[in-house]
Amino acid sequence: MDKLVIEGGAPLAGEIQISGSKNACLPILAASILTEDECVIGNVPELKDVGTMIKILGALGKNARIDSGSVSVKAGKIDNVTASYDLVSTMRASISVLGPLLGKYGRAKVSFPGGCVIGPRPIDLHLKGLRALGADIRIEEGYIIADAPRLKGARVYLGGHFGSSVLATANTLSAAVLAEGETVIEDAACEPEVEDLSNFLVAMGADISGIGTPTLVVRGVDSLRGVSYDVISDRIEAGTYMIAAILTGGRLSLKNAFAGHNLALIDKLSECGGVVEEHAWGLEVYRRGEDIEATHITTLTYPGFPTDLQAQMMSLVALSRGISVITEKIYPERFINISELNRMGADIMLEGSSAIINGVDRLSGTRVMASDLRASAALVLAGLVAEGVTEISRIYHLDRGYEKIEKKLSEVGAKIRRESE
Ligand code: EPU
Repeated sequence: MDKLVIEGGAPLAGEIQISGSKNACLPILAASILTEDECVIGNVPELKDVGTMIKILGALGKNARIDSGSVSVKAGKIDNVTASYDLVSTMRASISVLGPLLGKYGRAKVSFPGGCVIGPRPIDLHLKGLRALGADIRIEEGYIIADAPRLKGARVYLGGHFGSSVLATANTLSAAVLAEGETVIEDAACEPEVEDLSNFLVAMGADISGIGTPTLVVRGVDSLRGVSYDVISDRIEAGTYMIAAILTGGRLSLKNAFAGHNLALIDKLSECGGVVEEHAWGLEVYRRGEDIEATHITTLTYPGFPTDLQAQMMSLVALSRGISVITEKIYPERFINISELNRMGADIMLEGSSAIINGVDRLSGTRVMASDLRASAALVLAGLVAEGVTEISRIYHLDRGYEKIEKKLSEVGAKIRRESE
């Protein structure tokens, strides 16, 4: 297993190229099941999760390969509708093959994904959406087994206890595009990744209106064609580097970053003393003055503040003047980074699903343990400003979601290297 070793203190300066979006490309790759033609998906980040989705497609009989950021999914039918536990257990997003398999082949058997380190991850909304379209679904021996000779359009409300669901919307939408008649998905997730999937499906010949809104209207078509399609840039990767620029008191030019997808973050960064300038090529980010100011954040579904940037913001306000409160409304247990940040000298207390962060003057490097993907990124950010050396072990989570992170950071002046443990 690898670890990252960071010598803190260097302000970051220079240019970082933002990669294609992990969370957009995974359901898009899964949706390539909906056609027997070849699809070429561009701007795909070379990440472990993308490799897992390619393996799942391969196990289903769809030959896919990644080359220089482009995945070609070869023409042909699939010959197996089972996504096994071995693959699904390593990546929750594997569940996004469920809707496309059911929509195209009328059958699917996908391992039940279970919970994970950021808390329980139920799938009731996925099942609700597909059942509304007429699927017969049962859970047997840890597998979701779904059957529906031909799905029928329906009106379905997909809001859950924590609001809309990104992948439940993706699954229902991907199943509805080949269903008979009209489907209306109410309280659909509005995240840019769902919008990107909708645009991909439309490029394949699907008939979808209301894209990017909470009401998606889908009129089923008989078949979809192969396309070449480039995914959007990764707003969470961009946001992580935006926070890094302000935290380290440096100045970063983030090529391909798009402000429109990160308005909630930009608003909070400005309260914290950051400046984000929009250019045709991307965003330029730096700190306005000497200090980082405190702020209060509540995570919400899009366009609210994203849960996937919550842990990274905690590293920023850990060094602010004053007290900040961060409340998690999407994953109330997603606070595993707190104990590690406190080991580095932060002063953070957890109160229910809110973290109360009393800003400190300095963090000090030590050995810390990475947990989930975004908590791992938060520790990297803390390491970049901590005095001394921070060693982050178990960094395989980072490789699931941040393309070439240590290379991108070294190129802008960070003292960071990967070593084997
Ligand atoms: N939920 C339900 N029932 C369901 C599905 C979800 O109650 O059937 C709840 C969840 O427990 C959570 C909320 O709804 O409280 C939102 O979860 P959502 O379904 O939107 O999450 P997801 O689709 O499984 C995607 C991202 C996550 C990101 C969330 C929220 C992918 C591959 N994953 O997950 O990304 O945190 O949306 O924006 O798109 C990450 O990249 O680190 C990551 C965890």
